[in-house]
Amino acid sequence: MSLDVAAVRAAFPILSRTVRGGNTLIYLDSGATSHNPVQVLDAERAYNVTSNAAAHRGAHLLGEEATDALEHARARVAAFIGADPGEIVFTRNATEAANLIAYSISNAATGAPSGGPATGSPLVLGPGDEVLITELEHHANLVPWQQLCQRTGATLRWFPVTGEGRVDLSDIGTLVSERTKVVAVTGQSNVTGAMPPVETIAAAAHAVGAIVVVDAAQSVPHHPVRVGDSGADLLYFSGHKMLAPTGVRALWGRRPALASIPPFITGGSLLRAVRMQASTSRPPAHRRQHGQPAADPVEVAHDVRREEHGGPPCDGARHRAQELAARRGVQARGRLVEEPRRGRDQLVRPRQGRRVRRRPGLLCRLKPAGGRDRRG
Ligand SMILES: Cc1ncc(COP(=O)(O)O)c(C=O)c1O
Repeated sequence: MSLDVAAVRAAFPILSRTVRGGNTLIYLDSGATSHNPVQVLDAERAYNVTSNAAAHRGAHLLGEEATDALEHARARVAAFIGADPGEIVFTRNATEAANLIAYSISNAATGAPSGGPATGSPLVLGPGDEVLITELEHHANLVPWQQLCQRTGATLRWFPVTGEGRVDLSDIGTLVSERTKVVAVTGQSNVTGAMPPVETIAAAAHAVGAIVVVDAAQSVPHHPVRVGDSGADLLYFSGHKMLAPTGVRALWGRRPALASIPPFITGGSLLRAVRMQASTSRPPAHRRQHGQPAADPVEVAHDVRREEHGGPPCDGARHRAQELAARRGVQARGRLVEEPRRGRDQLVRPRQGRRVRRRPGLLCRLKPAGGRDRRG
């Protein structure tokens, strides 16, 4: 199926603006953040114009509508990744989701607040325990684990990367051991595009009783992900990389995994009963969701992405870059990691070559050597 570039451009109002020199905007930085199509912008405005209220708080019509919108969005997001709505926690970003997990785990070590894990949880980390990641992680899935280890005295270990930019599993038998308590891996690297075999890593981790966390910030926008088959116990991704507005992301967790870690941020929207002496928490997914999340636009984003464009904007950018490369005889620069396992090639970061990078109006992640990118 050929991509209707004009229709895609028409759906994104921002693409109608020009950039420096009056050039047409070409946006190839969707791996960092995607733009909002008109359907998402309209839905967000409609929600604010007609139904804005505090979900799960206001006992009036608007409160009901806001609650319905939020829970509808939760159900749609859950369906999108094959999960149960009660397993979806809305967070503000992927970084927050990773920190939420890491801080929840250290809360288990330091004495759980209300709703925390049973004592004796395998997630009570201390000296001698290990957290295992890969050398390919985004900072969001690296620094929270470094700090968790600093707080608890556990040791951080990692799978190295091969010369090809893939995760090197040759030492998995040594790296995953009885000491391993948490394995946190990327579903798809934002650096090389490699997709580590999460199922294999998860099987080894589960065999020693470790919990598996997957950073799916790049994989969920690009591939159909069914959480049940993924091997993950906790998995998070970012709405802003898949057409949703900034500030809407999701964390998924199997119920036992969510139930096994105590809340991180407590207060508004998490509690069932509050007394001056102590409070009791709501069910596992709700007790991790602090304050008011955004609701409506998430589901619209998913609808638009899947049903109207037949693919995410990143696909459009990839497609366009490939077309350009083919038409102009441009060579791809940077590492192109093929992932035959999923039958799809990945163009990683917009390193489409010197000529494409010089194209007026093109906004991509890399800046030309030696300075600020003034092209756009
Ligand atoms: C693989 C990966 N993980 C996490 C993040 C952080 O995402 P967020 O901006 O939603 O915190 C990114 C952002 O680029 C990413 O590419």
